[in-house]
Amino acid sequence: MLKETVLSGIRSTGFLHLGNYFGAIRNYVRMQEEYNCYFFVANWHSLTTHPDTSELRTSVHRVMAENIACGLDPEKVALYVQSDLPEIAELYLYLNTMAYKGELEKTPTFKDKVRQNPENVNAALLTYPVLMAADILIHRAVKVPVGKDQEQHLEIARNYVQRFNHRYGNVFPEPHAFNYGSKLVKILSLDGNGKMSKSENQMNTLYLADEDDQVIKKIMKAKTDSGPSTPNEEKPDYIENLFTLLREVSAPDVVKKYEDDFNNSSAGNCIIRYGDLKKQLAEDMVQFITPIREKVNAILGDENYLKSVMKIGAEKAKVSAEATITAVREAMNLNYH
Ligand code: TYM
Repeated sequence: MLKETVLSGIRSTGFLHLGNYFGAIRNYVRMQEEYNCYFFVANWHSLTTHPDTSELRTSVHRVMAENIACGLDPEKVALYVQSDLPEIAELYLYLNTMAYKGELEKTPTFKDKVRQNPENVNAALLTYPVLMAADILIHRAVKVPVGKDQEQHLEIARNYVQRFNHRYGNVFPEPHAFNYGSKLVKILSLDGNGKMSKSENQMNTLYLADEDDQVIKKIMKAKTDSGPSTPNEEKPDYIENLFTLLREVSAPDVVKKYEDDFNNSSAGNCIIRYGDLKKQLAEDMVQFITPIREKVNAILGDENYLKSVMKIGAEKAKVSAEATITAVREAMNLNYH
């Protein structure tokens, strides 16, 4: 049976964190066993917010190494850098003709970026979802493992598929966001203010590169409160976030103990001890992050290996990208000789 095609990417804008891992990479690692997989470093996308390219090369190498250290096998998947595939830029141009300014201006991620950086509202930032659609459609991927924050971008990509197929004939299948669990994941920042992110709020973000003492310090400072006021209360999102992390890295009996402690607590009878929970979480998180961090450092020390991975990845990806561009040009009557 023909395997379904999977694609996903990560911007090279800083160190990867637990949101990237639990929202995306963990799924990649599982999917590589079952699907025809393409994973890439979105270095063009990073230019929309990070125009200074002096650190870009280091950052691309790091994201590559982090992907591999987390378990991606460059022999099983095509692991490449976006700018090594110029076919994406060509498809981006075509898709731009069916991308409407009003729609793009309404995209929540665009509005956030404008708020954060009002002096650099460039056209590539506005058309960020168009480039993302091109990344996906260049391999005609149907499953896109991403975190919750990318959901709207997938919806936009499906709009372009419908418009393209309607205008020029059936070239693209519709891509959908994917997670092995039932819901897409959103890991919050440890202070509960928004999602964990590569370049903001670094003291409340757990990076795969963090040293043990940083992991412990950050977790011990994570936001908690004085405890639930009634038994079986719904958890506030910052507490739920700690439980989400605990479920990922701690033993099931540990999780159960703290779940029970939470559910049996009420005002005047607080059984749950957040200090103990955080201490346990910190200990288990150190066990989780340390081997990844060490592997990343080993891979980064072998530049020749990284270069060969990127070269082979680009060659693999090019085969599928060229086939798609040929089909697109034919459908659009752009083939003249
Ligand atoms: P980026 O680089 O911001 O993040 C990479 C992946 O990590 C997920 N993620 C999270 N998941 C859960 N909780 C969080 N706090 C969290 N933070 C990040 C993201 O959802 C993403 O899956 N636009 C994309 C990169 C991209 C792309 C693509 C993805 C470019 N082209 C094509 C898929 C397909 C982005 O900025 O991801």
